[in-house]
Amino acid sequence: MAARRSIGIVVNGVTGRMGYRQHLVRSLLAIREQGGVPLAGGGHIWPEPILVGRDPDKLAAIAAQHGLTEWTTDLDAALARPDAEIYFDAQVTSQREKAIRQAITAGKHVYTEKPLAESSAASLELAELATAAGIKNGVVQDKLFLPGLRKLKRLIDGGFFGQILSVRGEFGYWVFEGDWQVAQRPSWNYRLADGGGIVMDMFPHWNYVLEELFGNVRTVQATTATHITKRVDERGEEYAADADDAAYAIFELEGGIIAQLNSSWTVRVNRDELVEFQVDGTHGSAVAGLRGCKIQHRASTPKPVWNPDLPLTGKSFRDEWTEVPDNEEFDNGFKVQWEAFLRHVVAGETFHWDFESGARGVRLAEAGLQSAREGRRIAIGEA
Ligand SMILES: NC(=O)c1ccc[n+]([C@@H]2O[C@H](COP(=O)([O-])OP(=O)(O)OC[C@H]3O[C@@H](n4cnc5c(N)ncnc54)[C@H](O)[C@@H]3O)[C@@H](O)[C@H]2O)c1
Repeated sequence: MAARRSIGIVVNGVTGRMGYRQHLVRSLLAIREQGGVPLAGGGHIWPEPILVGRDPDKLAAIAAQHGLTEWTTDLDAALARPDAEIYFDAQVTSQREKAIRQAITAGKHVYTEKPLAESSAASLELAELATAAGIKNGVVQDKLFLPGLRKLKRLIDGGFFGQILSVRGEFGYWVFEGDWQVAQRPSWNYRLADGGGIVMDMFPHWNYVLEELFGNVRTVQATTATHITKRVDERGEEYAADADDAAYAIFELEGGIIAQLNSSWTVRVNRDELVEFQVDGTHGSAVAGLRGCKIQHRASTPKPVWNPDLPLTGKSFRDEWTEVPDNEEFDNGFKVQWEAFLRHVVAGETFHWDFESGARGVRLAEAGLQSAREGRRIAIGEA
């Protein structure tokens, strides 16, 4: 029988939304259910989660529910285990930097949720520490693996667009205030002191999406808002929501593409998906969402005429677009990236979604916040 290569993974923040659902259940346990991550030379990688958190009852319950035995509230003890080779962090953002430093000192490879840290300086420092320690490192960039964005990448690689001119992105949905309907996101997201804010949450995603599909970001101009200033938390108590809950931004990319992305927790959805990117090129356009992607080629572009006196009849503009076929099976994006990171650690396969790219994401968020504060366009890398 082919060899099983077990690898201990300290999973910190496993009681949280992302830590539990996407990383433990949909990634690490799903990998075990499929029989591990196959290795090119035969055999497979077998993740052994070591659950870490603050609440022993919750940890014990999660472990019992999934047939796991290893859990602790003591991060140092978990990091001291010789069988723990990887540290993974899905804690609230404000707790991340400290824990990652501990893990690097303990000589573990580190994989983490975004944002890598709360500031660009801290993120760069973590990248330097990781390089100096010679540990493998990575940051979650799940949006790249969404079926809709994979299809968009396929269109770009196939030359569908001709010259790409612009990208228009709409991300968001209404996050309930928590008074008459329970909020669907944790309250720390709406408090600056706890690492909240939509810019810190979403710009790290926008950075890698833009970088990987269209070009590095050269400048950003953002207007942010805190539209809803009072919310009700998990305990039913009202709190002051002081973090930005909407950001309206324009990014200029290397190569001249203009990307205009709205991010909002205060918008009601009138689109097909929670995020949509429209890409317009000289030869064609596409609208990509989480799963779907539709296109319109220059040859099938209708010729609208501006005439508000006449009602629109016949086909709607939306009907003139064609759905891009799947042509492949799309697995959960978090799991696909976990598999790549595990192969990177065990078999040395390349993995470029590292701390440096995570740090570029935080730098973009910081530049966006600076732009909003100062009311001007910020060049990336400008002090
Ligand atoms: N990749 C993505 O699409 C995506 C989506 C949402 C969130 N995230 C990131 O994942 C991380 C966790 O977000 P979440 O939505 O799962 O949050 P959550 O509030 O549901 O979970 C937070 C986790 O951190 C733990 N924690 C440790 N110290 C804490 C403290 N002092 N206060 C509160 N909680 C503490 C909690 O116990 C819990 O396990 C954040 O960094 C966030 O930016 C990523």
